[in-house]
Amino acid sequence: MKKNGHQLEHPQEEPLSGGLPRRDFVKYLLAGSAFSVAALNKLNAGIYQSITSLNQKYIEDISPDGAYWDEVRKLFLFEGQLIMMNNGTVGPMPKPVFNTLMKYFKVQVQNPYDVYNFLPGGKEGVRDKLAQFIHAASDEVSLTSNTTEGLNFVINGLDLKEGDEVLISNLEHPSALGPWKLKSKRCGVIVKEVKLSLPHKGVEEIVGAFAAAITPKTKIISVGHTVFITGLMTPIKELSKMAHEKGVLVLADSAHGLGMLSLNMKEMGMDFFASSPYKWLGAPTGIGLLFVRKEAQDKLWPTVVASGWDTTVGASKYDPAGQRADAMVYALGEAIDFINHIGKDRVERRIKALAAYLKQGLSKIPGVKINTPTDPYLSAGLTAFSVDGIECSKIVDYVREKYNLVVRTIGSRDAGTLAVRVSTPLYISTKEIDMLVEGVNALVKHKV
Ligand SMILES: Cc1ncc(COP(=O)(O)O)c(C=O)c1O
Repeated sequence: MKKNGHQLEHPQEEPLSGGLPRRDFVKYLLAGSAFSVAALNKLNAGIYQSITSLNQKYIEDISPDGAYWDEVRKLFLFEGQLIMMNNGTVGPMPKPVFNTLMKYFKVQVQNPYDVYNFLPGGKEGVRDKLAQFIHAASDEVSLTSNTTEGLNFVINGLDLKEGDEVLISNLEHPSALGPWKLKSKRCGVIVKEVKLSLPHKGVEEIVGAFAAAITPKTKIISVGHTVFITGLMTPIKELSKMAHEKGVLVLADSAHGLGMLSLNMKEMGMDFFASSPYKWLGAPTGIGLLFVRKEAQDKLWPTVVASGWDTTVGASKYDPAGQRADAMVYALGEAIDFINHIGKDRVERRIKALAAYLKQGLSKIPGVKINTPTDPYLSAGLTAFSVDGIECSKIVDYVREKYNLVVRTIGSRDAGTLAVRVSTPLYISTKEIDMLVEGVNALVKHKV
């Protein structure tokens, strides 16, 4: 990893910045009367009341900026003036989620008996809430630890035999590539790569490329939904329709999807969907979603089991067995409540409006190449760009040093995908995007 956190190949090494300084952290907890459960509940009720009044005051927000989002921004716990425009690896957590996390961790501190007596009961409520949030049935939702685990559960749990074919794109994340490589070595499955052109063209081209690669031996298409290298939002709905007509399953790697997009599993139609709600949704690191369509459940074996895997009906049989920090499950429920208070469609609109503003600003700079589509159906909160003659790492370092603004490098020179990747989450303002654009402009004009 290099100085300001840019690195070329390995997303798992992505740097982290921020966090509450110790002094402020203690102050924040003390503000909740030494972190009693009643005080934490009261803190959250106050926060939600303030969002409700903001919603009443600002029913329409045509412009992506303004008082509404300034207030929402204050509900995040950033250190100083940190401008966090990288939601890869992990994103930030808003206050109510942090409060809930503390509240439930406190149970283990004060009365561990309640960890197995009282906490497990509420977890099904979180599963229901998550199911509703993504338009799925509760028995299609498994609570995993992260996207990587969900992908492994699917790839490991399918009965595939020697000679069966899997289609992936040339833009997959190591968290999908690694398990497919293992499966291939272990079972003789053939992994075939479908090359997607850059710049991306459109729905037909993408779906057509996969359709053309299907043979009678193809069993599954495994594809990034939120493509981490280029920012493409793969048209999963159209892809699933085409694949299902040919009897092929679809696995979507949507590590960034939860909290960035207003998701509808029924409409998208894929069989398996893995996501990490701590990137864009504000949940704590270590809790994940694996959606398994009802019709696909008889094809998927669970992977990490104790007793009950053979009698449990529904996707909860895919939950990894063994103890876990239930506080994280509850905090996931709180993260969903937080986004629901703002409105998930409103969040998606804002994220896309900010991304469009960024692309507009960047496209005026000579030598800038944007790898992300402009079509809001094929793009959302991830934007990847490069500038002729300027190292991506230089841009990352410059804006970090000048504005305390965090973006990252992504992709590889050899594949022609090396770029600076920018996230435009709901708490970012157009002023901050202006800073980034100004920084890139300064580098181009003055070669600083
Ligand atoms: C497309 C994609 N898939 C998988 C992952 C791995 O996510 P996690 O480490 O949360 O499992 C990432 C990480 O950012 C990603 O961008």
